[in-house]
Amino acid sequence: MIVMPQTKIAGIGYYVPSNVVTNKDLLKYMDTSDEWIQERTGIKERRFADRTGETTTTMGVKAAEMAMERAGVSASDIDFIIFATLSPDYYFPGCGVLLQRALKMNEVGALDVRNQCSGFVYALSIGDQYIKTGMYKNILVVASEKHSFGLDFSTRGRNITVIFGDGAGAVVLQPTDVAGQGILSTHLHSDGESAELLAMFNPGTHANHWINGLADFKDAEMAEMFMSHEMIDNAQNFPTMDGPAVFRKAIIKFPEVIMEALNKNNMATKDLALLIPHQANLRIAQFIQKQLKLDDSQVYNNIERFGNTTAASIPIALCEAWEKGLIKNGDVVCMAAFGSGFTWASALVRW
Ligand code: ACO
Repeated sequence: MIVMPQTKIAGIGYYVPSNVVTNKDLLKYMDTSDEWIQERTGIKERRFADRTGETTTTMGVKAAEMAMERAGVSASDIDFIIFATLSPDYYFPGCGVLLQRALKMNEVGALDVRNQCSGFVYALSIGDQYIKTGMYKNILVVASEKHSFGLDFSTRGRNITVIFGDGAGAVVLQPTDVAGQGILSTHLHSDGESAELLAMFNPGTHANHWINGLADFKDAEMAEMFMSHEMIDNAQNFPTMDGPAVFRKAIIKFPEVIMEALNKNNMATKDLALLIPHQANLRIAQFIQKQLKLDDSQVYNNIERFGNTTAASIPIALCEAWEKGLIKNGDVVCMAAFGSGFTWASALVRW
């Protein structure tokens, strides 16, 4: 019988920019209030990257360097890169190759993952499969977002813009022969029925095929189909979200995918040392906690300080919790995400 290795998280790191932006600071741009933001989302402040000095990739590089140092490996040891983001430096190529270049890595494969809030868990799952089959020995998984560049800072965009922040997280995955250690299982899901409820449509090649009410393409010149002045004039280059619909779906799918992971491993919620939910919104995390009857000590949230950093939110929270000594060897940790697509996912790990 062939015994496949399990995948362990050998090192973890995160990076958030030093620029703290409070709810009050957002009043410079839009009509909102600290009370509204805290009451609906739990967010007090977030970080914004340096406008020209930092990119999604450079933040990812900093998180990756910390993860590699803690794993005791150097850039030349990494044999595969997986980079999750929805706010890439370029439309193409993806951030994976920019990170490969910045870290002067070998000519290893670099895969970019486009799964928004679920991006890190999807990336972890992909890395897990490559380690289990023996294809790679040191995989660098990076998730990073520079949301501050792509949001509508006028009052028109306030329902979305106040939620998001910038930052990056990273892990190094390695094989382990220790029975029962590492990634126990991952669970990935999608339902494209509601793809347009949380999305950024332009620039894109859709030509209004799926949606009505956007800039009219009928008289557009070929060169104006992808990104036109009209799209910009009508603010169609910013993300759009039906907040209440996202909330309703998230509070069903989060508990479902967490229980799927526990059931798969014959565990119950009492076996969870820590749940790291994607930091979408504190109200969503609190709802999940209540529904699953988890103690405060079993759930880690940091959205109050960092906002929603999409793909990066889970590795940032995981790293912070680990640094605070909240995750010890042998602890069972569940990471769970839900977001645009919709996609949702979980990973159960024994540390
Ligand atoms: N400041 C002040 N008022 C605001 C703001 C703001 N930042 N944003 C919206 N409002 C106003 C609206 O204009 C509206 O006013 P009106 O009633 O006079 O028209 C009112 O507040 C309610 O607007 P809604 O959009 O219905 O706000 P809602 O109460 O649904 O709260 C929120 C919005 C917080 C986004 C909520 O829907 C929610 O929590 N949704 C879950 C989605 C989520 O968390 N997404 C995170 C990103 S996606 C992800 O990570 C999964």
